[in-house]
Amino acid sequence: MSIAVSDQEPTGDKSSPKKYPRITTHVLHEMKLRKEKISMLTAYDYSMAAILDAAGIDVILVGDSASNVMAGHKSTLPITLNEMIYHASSVVRAVERALVVVDLPFGTYQGNSKEALHSAIRIMKESGANAIKIEGGKEIQESIERILSAGIPVMGHLGLTPQSIHKFGTYTVRAREEKEAQKLIADAHLLEECGSFALVLEKIPASLAEQVSTGLQIPTIGIGAGNHVDGQVLVLHDMLGITHGFSPRFLRRYHNLYEEIKGSVQSYINDVKTKNFPNERESY
Ligand code: KIV
Repeated sequence: MSIAVSDQEPTGDKSSPKKYPRITTHVLHEMKLRKEKISMLTAYDYSMAAILDAAGIDVILVGDSASNVMAGHKSTLPITLNEMIYHASSVVRAVERALVVVDLPFGTYQGNSKEALHSAIRIMKESGANAIKIEGGKEIQESIERILSAGIPVMGHLGLTPQSIHKFGTYTVRAREEKEAQKLIADAHLLEECGSFALVLEKIPASLAEQVSTGLQIPTIGIGAGNHVDGQVLVLHDMLGITHGFSPRFLRRYHNLYEEIKGSVQSYINDVKTKNFPNERESY
């Protein structure tokens, strides 16, 4: 697969938002060629997506982690296609620059490539997103190829694939064993050969992620996969500290919004109870 540098020339400005007015799958390939790291975060609603886009994030993932952080489920399995489309449409309405990628939820693509294509088409048509993400390698090759044949960009996802949590039985680091590492490498190349435009590598040894990344032309985006990948992704609610009691080693928290929001709500409650709110300026 050869990758050309596009007509969207960087301006020389160091801030990505000005450099690339609109992020496309092609721009991500250029970023890999230029060794420029790709930033990706999850978002599930209009207001957060607007902030991420204004901040200059390259890719917004409408992840099925919405099942956990938005709906309170214990895993990503329960979220439905309709719910994903609802989240994705809200995000798309806010975004002017970032590439919006949407997870195909559990049960909408495994074992039936026609259903996979139908699910991907619904996401693209009903939400206006730019691409879909799908978990797995060889076992879902037919689904990936069918989706790609319809012109829908596909981001792969290997390593700790949360939709398979019941098969793994643990959220521990994947592919430490040689056999699993070899399968991951083979799957990564297969995804590239099929035509996927990028690949998420979740919770695998940094050395393996580096080996995969240097062997591929498409960009890799890591989460718990070390620093030698082409970009990084985190779940927004984790990096902002909205979720708590979840501290895997790979997670860097940039805020403690759980405590900050709780404190603000407590101040509000106190103001209401003490009749301190509203005051005269806040009344008509
Ligand atoms: O659903 C999600 O948020 C994801 C990321 C963890 C990559 O798939």
